[in-house]
Amino acid sequence: MTSGTSAAPNTGPSAAAPASVSFPAGFAWGAATAAYQIEGSATADGRTPSIWDTFSHTPGKTLGGDTGDVAVDHYRRRPDDVALMAELGLTAYRFSVSWSRVQPTGRGPAVQRGLDFYRGLVDDLLARGITPALTLYHWDLPQELEDAGGWPVRETAERFAEYAALVGEALGDRVEMWTTLNEPWCSAFLGYGSGVHAPGRTDPVAALRAAHHLNLGHGLATQALRSVLPARARLGISLNPSAVRAKTEDPADQEARRRIDALANRVFSDPILHGHYPADLLADTVRLTDWSFVSEDDLTAIHQPLDFLGINYYQPTVVSSPGPDAPTGPRSDGHGASDHSPWPGSEDIVFHPAPGERTAMGWSVDPTGLHDLLMHYSAEAPGVALYVTENGVAYDDKPGPDGAVHDPDRIRYLDGHLRAIRRAITDGADVRGYFQWSLMDNFEWAYGYSKRFGLVYIDYETQERTPKSSARWYAQAARSGELPPLP
Ligand code: FCB
Repeated sequence: MTSGTSAAPNTGPSAAAPASVSFPAGFAWGAATAAYQIEGSATADGRTPSIWDTFSHTPGKTLGGDTGDVAVDHYRRRPDDVALMAELGLTAYRFSVSWSRVQPTGRGPAVQRGLDFYRGLVDDLLARGITPALTLYHWDLPQELEDAGGWPVRETAERFAEYAALVGEALGDRVEMWTTLNEPWCSAFLGYGSGVHAPGRTDPVAALRAAHHLNLGHGLATQALRSVLPARARLGISLNPSAVRAKTEDPADQEARRRIDALANRVFSDPILHGHYPADLLADTVRLTDWSFVSEDDLTAIHQPLDFLGINYYQPTVVSSPGPDAPTGPRSDGHGASDHSPWPGSEDIVFHPAPGERTAMGWSVDPTGLHDLLMHYSAEAPGVALYVTENGVAYDDKPGPDGAVHDPDRIRYLDGHLRAIRRAITDGADVRGYFQWSLMDNFEWAYGYSKRFGLVYIDYETQERTPKSSARWYAQAARSGELPPLP
């Protein structure tokens, strides 16, 4: 992402907001979840551990030792949850398939009971007029594949394509929108670099190899899906590109921005959209690897036509060159603290909090980054539709004395980001829909159940679901195609 050369001041989510903002007909009003974060029933119907089961059961890896064993019990409450989605006016729902439910060892034939769960989910959605948007991989690699080398090895990409074909064959008659990977940056650099995510490895070279084999997995899976899916299927990937801004106009800070742009963004978007790795990234990492694990054939396989690109956005990234005041010691990249950097070859670059209000994650609220990204990818990938496949916010929501959960801050956040999307559409970006993260409070990875991103409040003792006031606001937007007034 090369637009935006210095950290812009945050003008606030609703600065100079026009009174009424409406969206094009057919715009998808969605919400998103991921299998390990909501399903629970970790050992039901033949499911075996994924890397997230192993990681969360390892002492010290998640806050309070929380695991996804029960999560929000969606595996058993699926019909009621879909009814709730319909009540909230959703027109689309983004979910992920648990690889370990469908192909427990990561190899061999599919387990029918695993597929049946997703077939049931899709049927429930379609019966209520909600478009299913299926993600094949949201970070939960079958443990056996990690034991065989994980994403740093080529075989994992090949296994992923086989798994993609199995799911494609089973659900291709009823699912049109397919996403290969969710946020490969997190899988590669948090999973194998800083180690704050599963499998918790801290090896910079393994992280770069993982990035490549995730790209390859995307390409091979896209080819496999095209061969089994009907022509009407739409295929894409969800990236979490950073809207990277340099702290100052100083050339050294601009150079820091370039390096992080390479590692956060172009390591994925260049091979996927253009069929090559960025020359500057190869030079930046030359101390670590000669990238001989990449072949010309791999690049051809990765560079597949896409129908859409999913953008996941939470906050901008502000960087500077390492100066005398650079902080030392454990660092937090917003997903957990670690002594290890998730930025191979650029470990010394300094990250600064972006301007603006903070959320319960400590992330800043600044919708301008979303507008920047949408405009950037609209120019970089002409003809490829864009979806915002994740955007949302954690606040410490609690039921009031009346039992209701009032979350006006989340409404303001959604309003600000939806306005940024509307501006991007006006400015020419082909944005087809929005998937709010997340439908319900859920297992927020290393933070366990401590962070609440949901439109729907979960009482983890009873599993009772209570739509927050943001859910009602969003339902009104989804029904009218227009942003309702702020409370
Ligand atoms: C994204 C993840 C999603 C959720 C949100 C808050 O990086 O894709 O699962 O954790 O962050």
